[in-house]
Amino acid sequence: MREGSHVIVLPFPAQGHITPMSQFCKRLVSKGLKITLILVSDKPSPPYRTEHDLITVVPISNGFQEDEEQSQDLDDYMERVETSIKTRLPKLIEDMKLSGNPPRALVYDSTMPWLLDVAHSSGLRGAVFFTQPWLVSTIYYHVNKGSFSVPSTRHDHSALASFPSFPMLNSYDLPSFLRESSSYPNILRIVIDQLSNIDRVDIVLCNTFDKLEEKLLKWVQSLWPVLNIGPTVPSMYLDKRLTEDKNYGFSLFDANVAKCIEWLDSKQPSSVVYVSLGSLVILKEDQMMELAAGLKQSGYFFLWVVRDTEKNKLPRNWSPQLEVLRHESIGCFLTHCGWNSMLEGLSLGVPMIGMPHWADQPTNGKFMEDVWKVGVRVKADVDGFVRSEEIVKRVGEVMEGEKGKEIRKNAEKWKLLTLEAVSEGGRSDKSINEFVSMFC
Ligand code: UDX
Repeated sequence: MREGSHVIVLPFPAQGHITPMSQFCKRLVSKGLKITLILVSDKPSPPYRTEHDLITVVPISNGFQEDEEQSQDLDDYMERVETSIKTRLPKLIEDMKLSGNPPRALVYDSTMPWLLDVAHSSGLRGAVFFTQPWLVSTIYYHVNKGSFSVPSTRHDHSALASFPSFPMLNSYDLPSFLRESSSYPNILRIVIDQLSNIDRVDIVLCNTFDKLEEKLLKWVQSLWPVLNIGPTVPSMYLDKRLTEDKNYGFSLFDANVAKCIEWLDSKQPSSVVYVSLGSLVILKEDQMMELAAGLKQSGYFFLWVVRDTEKNKLPRNWSPQLEVLRHESIGCFLTHCGWNSMLEGLSLGVPMIGMPHWADQPTNGKFMEDVWKVGVRVKADVDGFVRSEEIVKRVGEVMEGEKGKEIRKNAEKWKLLTLEAVSEGGRSDKSINEFVSMFC
C-alpha cells in the first residue's frame, strides 16, 4: 500500500450513523489506511487522536453559534450543517494536502448526498455510506424513480406493495415515512434524496452483508459499484487494539457498564429479556405503562433502558448494549428494530422481539421475522398501540416453546454467517480489502 493512504469519513450527527461509520474507520485503520473522522458537533473543539492514536478526529461546527439556541426545525438544521461543511471542508482538505497528508477519498453519509460534489471538486473520490440496509434503500430508490407511489391511505392494512426480490409487504411493513408522508415531509425528502445522485458515485458502501440480503444483492450490484462491508459491530474486530478500545462507537451517551453486568451476572443463563428502543424512539406515556405491565406480567427478569424522554434530554440511562447482548443470561432482545440493534442481535445470535416504531424499523422487523426468522414482531392495534397481553404472548413465544426453539436455531445460524462474513477472507472482509486496495 502507498505510504500514507488517507481517507476522510463523515457521518451524519446521530448515534445510529456515527456508530457504524466510526466502526468502519477502525476496520480501515486495521488494514493500514490513515483516517480522519469528521464529527459534526455543536461544540467545536480542536482535532484529537483516538486512544490508540489510530484515527484523527476533527470536530466541525454544525453551523450554530455556541450560545445560539439550536433550531428544532429539521430543514433549518440540515441547511446550517450543509453550509457549514461546504464552507469548512474544502479548506480542511487543502490544508491536509499542504501538510503532505492528502486524502484520496471522502466516505460520506448517504443522508448528505451533496457531499459527492464537495469530494469531486476537491479532487477526491466519493464513496457514499448507507447506514441502513438495502431492504429500505431500494424502496426509497423506487420512490425516487417514480416506480412506486407513496400510499395515500395511512391505515389501510390491506394495501400491498410489491418490489423486485422482496416478500410482499403490507403498508405497515413499509418505512414509516412512506406510510405517514404528510407527518414527516422533510425526512421523507431526505431519505429519498439519498438516491438522487447515486449513479455518479464512485463507490457505494453499505452496512450489511451479502448473505443477509442475497436476493437484493444481484440487482443493486447490477446498478452500482456496491461493496457490502458489514456488519460493523465492534465485538467482531480481529485487531485487539480496536476491540479493547472502549470508546467503540464515539458514543454520545455514557453507559453504566458495571451496574448492568453485575446484575446480569446474578441471573441464570437465557433468563433475562433485554429491552432497548435505541437512541431516538419516544413512546407515549400510556404505551410505556403498557409495556411495563406486559414485561412484569411475563414473569421474566428484564433489563430495560429507559430514557428521560419527557424533558427530551440526553438519556439518563444508557446500557453497554453489546456487553449486555453478549451476556449468557440474556434470553431475548425486545428491540425497536433500529438497524444497528438488528445487526448486533444477529451477530450475537440473540432471539428478538420486534417493536418497530418508525423510519426503517417496520421493514427491518418484517425481514427479521419472515425472512431471517430470528424472532417475532408484536402486533399493534390499528392506532399503533401495543397491549400488555401482546407483550406477554410474544415474550413467552420466544423464551419457551417450539417456536422459540426454532428461532434460537436460526439465530445461531445467522450468528455463524455473520462471523463468517467479517472474518478474514469472508465476503465483507474481502469488500473492505477491495475498498482499501483502490487507494494503493
Ligand atoms: C436510528 C434509527 O432509529 C434506526 O431505525 C436506524 O436504523 C438508525 O438510526 P437508533 O434509534 O439509535 O438509530 O437505533 P439503532 O440503529 O439500533 O442504534 C442504537 C445504537 O445505540 C446501537 O449501536 C446500540 O448498541 C446502542 N445502544 C442503544 C447502547 O449502546 N445502549 C443503549 O442503552 C441503547
